[in-house]
Amino acid sequence: MQNFTLHTPTKIIFGKGQIAQLSNEIPKTAKILLVYGGGSIKHNGVLSQVYAALEGYTIDEFSGIEPNPAYETLIKAVDYIRQHEIDYLLAIGGGSVIDGTKFIAAAVNYPHDDLWEILITNGAYITSALPFSCVLTLPATGSETNNFSVISRRETGDKQSFSSPFVFPKIAILDPEVTYSLPVRQTANGVVDAFVHTLEQYLTYPVNAKVQDRYAEGLLMTLLEEGPKVLKEPENYAIRANIMWTATQALNGLLGAGVPQDWATHELGHQLTAFHGLDHAQTLAIILPHLLQEKREAKHDKLLQYAERVWDFTEGSEEERISKAIRATRQFFEDMGVKTHLSDYRLDGSSIPAMIKKLETQGLVALGEHQDITLDVSQRIYEASI
Ligand code: NZQ
Ligand code: ZN
Repeated sequence: MQNFTLHTPTKIIFGKGQIAQLSNEIPKTAKILLVYGGGSIKHNGVLSQVYAALEGYTIDEFSGIEPNPAYETLIKAVDYIRQHEIDYLLAIGGGSVIDGTKFIAAAVNYPHDDLWEILITNGAYITSALPFSCVLTLPATGSETNNFSVISRRETGDKQSFSSPFVFPKIAILDPEVTYSLPVRQTANGVVDAFVHTLEQYLTYPVNAKVQDRYAEGLLMTLLEEGPKVLKEPENYAIRANIMWTATQALNGLLGAGVPQDWATHELGHQLTAFHGLDHAQTLAIILPHLLQEKREAKHDKLLQYAERVWDFTEGSEEERISKAIRATRQFFEDMGVKTHLSDYRLDGSSIPAMIKKLETQGLVALGEHQDITLDVSQRIYEASI
């Protein structure tokens, strides 16, 4: 096992009706800005639940955070906060709203004028952030308890991430009932995103990290079991609860502690979203199977373990079992309704040279657990995914 430092300070409040707990957690004197997206929380009653919980507080709102939150929108929120008395943010939404809120929280008192620098420097100059909490409405990204944030800049076609010890949410409220209203596409996206997060911290090379391996296998098997079920029974509390808790754990730091990681699928996927507006999980479903195929030699031992322990593939040669596991992974995404080829999204690969150029500009030239996913390898993965 590798050395690690782990700090996951977010207080998690999980279960039915738990939005009501907000008033026990947020200081009564807080001047709160509710940050949310396109309005789903108005239709499903989540916003009213928040208002009911926060009766007596000073509350203001900033809405309109888009999926793949736009820098251009977020800097308007920063200006708004600088002009009004606000000292606490409450994100209500999925990964986009929570990531956007992390950026806003860090940007309000950022020491330099150029706020995009936060992305370019991976948060290196952040010295403080407004305190914030979140009410999660879409289990997928793990953003509710981690300190990562992914921001898109529409005018330049960039989608980049930053992390900072200052942007852990204080409290995360996870009520599975609020996910009943998710469209099928977003429910499926969430399952695929959490599955890929788990694989990216598991399918590398063995370091004799037994707990992390079995933890990852448990999360993967839960998603394989519950994913197809939730499509049939979207209002089944137990299924929604299991998916919500799995997605949080897939990217809250614990799973990846002490093990090598490979985030290349995410980096290549971010370019697909930036160039073509694909949903985050759609990009992962396209890239991951080809990346595994491309790196199957380097990942041989863990792929074999994955085939045996997660899929129960014990017959045939090692190479056959690995091929079967990669095929089964792709089929799982397809069964969830998330397509796995660029052509399924009417893309012909003509943007590949531009995406490779963008990877180069962003310094993403040596990805993967061995830093051997060079631009040439990335190009092969994109081409195979057409
Ligand atoms: O905007 P509203 O109206 O709220 O609608 C949203 C949005 O249209 C809707 N939605 C959310 N909860 C709902 C709901 N609709 C009905 N009922 C509900 N309960 O779903 C749509 C998508 O929401 P979004 O937040 O964009 O989805 P997701 O949670 O998948 O977040 C994706 C973003 O997170 C980033 C992605 O790159 C992408 O920008 N990621 C963040 C990570 C992190 N911070 O650790 C890691 C991830 O790998 C990922 O990169
Ligand atoms: Zn993801």
